[in-house]
Amino acid sequence: MPDDARRVRAAEPTDAPAIGLAHVRSWQAAYRGRVPQDYLDALDADRRGEGWRRYLEAGPPGGEALLVVDVDDRVVGFANVGPSRDDDAAGGGELRAIYLLPERWGLGDGRALLAAATRALHAHGFGHATLWVLDGNERARRFYEAAGWAPDGATKEDLSFGFPVAEVRYRRPLP
Ligand SMILES: CC(C)(COP(=O)(O)OP(=O)(O)OC[C@H]1O[C@@H](n2cnc3c(N)ncnc32)[C@H](O)[C@@H]1OP(=O)(O)O)[C@@H](O)C(=O)NCCC(=O)NCCS
Repeated sequence: MPDDARRVRAAEPTDAPAIGLAHVRSWQAAYRGRVPQDYLDALDADRRGEGWRRYLEAGPPGGEALLVVDVDDRVVGFANVGPSRDDDAAGGGELRAIYLLPERWGLGDGRALLAAATRALHAHGFGHATLWVLDGNERARRFYEAAGWAPDGATKEDLSFGFPVAEVRYRRPLP
């Protein structure tokens, strides 16, 4: 793909519906068989988009950013970064979300988005960053490892969705 067809930029409130759609479609494809199907079926792109619209209109809190990747002027994915929410990683940054429409997986969009997210974390002054990934999400784990992230030994059973999800933490320095 010509480089000028793909652009990573800060999200604007008008991007919210496309962000909601990428969020829900990506969850439904990536987590099928890994989280309860009822939960995935009930995800609502409009509601998700509405949440992101409110976030953007309020302005991301300090140290946070929401980036989108456009291909031919269509938003196909997003990434959200901010300060770490873990007590034992305080002072670091966190990649909180990175999701692409499933038809755009494996085409390099994620790599471009992750590079921009990493730059945004560095620009916010963080010297290192962490992220949490589903233990069984092999595609994402390969993707992060190729970009210089490595497991830091932390694991958790995340109960915030209403069912247990096994997650592992990755970390990387921000040069
Ligand atoms: C995870 C996700 C964002 C990755 O984006 P992507 O566009 O599919 O990834 P890319 O096309 O940029 O990278 C794909 C390939 O390039 C490799 N690659 C990525 N970054 C690289 C880098 N910096 N250097 C070298 N190789 C790299 C990856 O290892 C991968 O190779 P593989 O297919 O042989 O495993 C995307 O697949 C997605 O949205 N998945 C579902 C949601 C999800 O799991 N999100 C993560 C939640 S923690």
